[in-house]
Amino acid sequence: MTLFPEIFNSYMSESIMKRAIEKELIEVHVYNIRDFSANKHKKVDDYPFGGGAGMLMTPQPIYDTYKYIVETHNIESPRVVYLTPKGQVYKQEIASDLSLSEDIILLCGHYEGIDQRVIDLIVTDEVSIGDYVLTGGELPALIMIDSISRLIPGVLSQNESFEEESFKDNLLEYPHYTRPREFMGISVPDVLLSGNHQKIEKWRLEESIKITKERRPDLYKKSCKK
Ligand code: ADE
Repeated sequence: MTLFPEIFNSYMSESIMKRAIEKELIEVHVYNIRDFSANKHKKVDDYPFGGGAGMLMTPQPIYDTYKYIVETHNIESPRVVYLTPKGQVYKQEIASDLSLSEDIILLCGHYEGIDQRVIDLIVTDEVSIGDYVLTGGELPALIMIDSISRLIPGVLSQNESFEEESFKDNLLEYPHYTRPREFMGISVPDVLLSGNHQKIEKWRLEESIKITKERRPDLYKKSCKK
């Protein structure tokens, strides 16, 4: 649910998202909240009661968009995620959890926010993608769509597989190298050319641990608890 549906089209028609849709592994439907405004000028915002800067999104168009989605797709108990800097901070575990849901409705806010009543009525989860403020929820929604979709079985091919990637065991990824063996005088680490898979695995784990300790001591602590 968005006021800017066009934002989603280009991202969804490229690369892995495009392929996932073509293979019918995911469906993404974009609804323009403005289309559901009962106002004759299709107005979707108004001044805040109590004063203050900026405009708020009014509840009626959002509520009616929601009702339309639930009815047309026959959805029983959807997760309804409102993208907001006030939400819980998005993490891989939230993506994993949401990837198990059959239906997810993402609500993108704009202006200074949304009337609290429609949040109380329909929203099940509030999510922030990080401690910074964006002009709207569309980029966060795309980030959620992307990160959830790649967890759906079949969306990534074998060699795009996510098994070993960052955050799997709360460790960051080890460094990667491809051809050429030497670039600007810098060689690929010998161990990667050794053909000894045990040694390579050991090196990669050590590198993961080293970089996680350096950059993300918070994650490193968690990795030790597992
Ligand atoms: N809307 C504006 N800023 C946001 C953020 N950081 N996360 C999610 N939604 C937002």
